[in-house]
Amino acid sequence: MIVSVSRNTLDRAAAILKAGGLVAFPTETVYGLGGDAFNPRALAGIFAAKERPFFDPLIIHIADMKDLEKAADPGALPPAARRRLEVLSSKFWPGPLTLILPRRPELPDLATSGLATAAVRFPSHPAARELIRRIGAVAAPSANRFGRLSPTRAEHVEEQLGGKIDLVLDGGRTGVGLESTVLDLCGAFPRILRPGGLAREAIEEAVGPVAMGPAEGGGPAGEGPSASPGMLKSHYAPGTPLVLCGSWEDIPDDPAAALLFFSGSSREKFLARFPLYDSELRLKVLSGPGDRTEAAANFFDMLHELDRAGFSRIYAEKAPDGGLGDAINDRLSRASIFRK
Ligand code: TXA
Ligand code: MG
Repeated sequence: MIVSVSRNTLDRAAAILKAGGLVAFPTETVYGLGGDAFNPRALAGIFAAKERPFFDPLIIHIADMKDLEKAADPGALPPAARRRLEVLSSKFWPGPLTLILPRRPELPDLATSGLATAAVRFPSHPAARELIRRIGAVAAPSANRFGRLSPTRAEHVEEQLGGKIDLVLDGGRTGVGLESTVLDLCGAFPRILRPGGLAREAIEEAVGPVAMGPAEGGGPAGEGPSASPGMLKSHYAPGTPLVLCGSWEDIPDDPAAALLFFSGSSREKFLARFPLYDSELRLKVLSGPGDRTEAAANFFDMLHELDRAGFSRIYAEKAPDGGLGDAINDRLSRASIFRK
């Protein structure tokens, strides 16, 4: 059931969470499916509703720095990492950054998939903050079925999870449009496990060089970076097969397909070659001027729309690397069946 955000519905949502129920709510990145992080029954319900495998741990959302230590144990970090935590949390929280930190033993194993670490995020969306503040620590993956497109609107949640959860709080379309950046602070150097709504460049400006991608093999407890169990090759996928194209020139003349361009100029060049394609429904542009932040905000939203329209394929143009382009390209490559 979808209700718009208000004081009343936030109270109702908080009561549901306190009773062990599940509520989908807007964040600045994508909609989350929330449950009380300390209630194993709620956590099990999240995995069941999403059909998510138990090896893929959840992000614990907080709305007050004093709640950080409910989930994580910053004191167990080496001093350099503790300083990075201080800099990053004061600079980028609340916001689209998730930090992997040593966990508290009290946190249920279901939340962390039994890892020695916990993922923590302090979102900036006002409705998310209001709701989380009333609970303390809310476990929330993106509110989609496992492996599918992440929701940027309440209706996307209802389509995928309707009937399986207690309430959907509708706060309109999300602003950032892509999930948070997941940054592991447990290793000798910070490592981005998932590029997302906070660009690598911004993190490096604050704390120096960061490594990128899953750790190879990981390291001994406390030394090496954590494993990143959720970083599956295939993920974030529409129902329609998606083909990732290196540039507009690789997009073929396929009348049954929908096309997703990064910029207006790519679309113009494509149309100069294939003028018959001009249709709003079939051709989407992530950002007219080619702005990566705007493109990220439109990314899942446009994919949902194209997915619903019943094309045989979606051809999508790669974004330029750097900034939020890295997160867009990460999602595109996981969504694609093959690349051209
Ligand atoms: O923007 C977001 O992060 C959204 C909103 C709702 O906050 N949440 C989200 O959650 O994207 P989810 O569950 O879809 O993705 C969480 C990612 C997964 O890839 C998971 O494997 C990883 O974070 N993760 C969680 N705990 C981890 C841990 N202890 N170590 C490494 N990776 C972890
Ligand atoms: Mg997800």
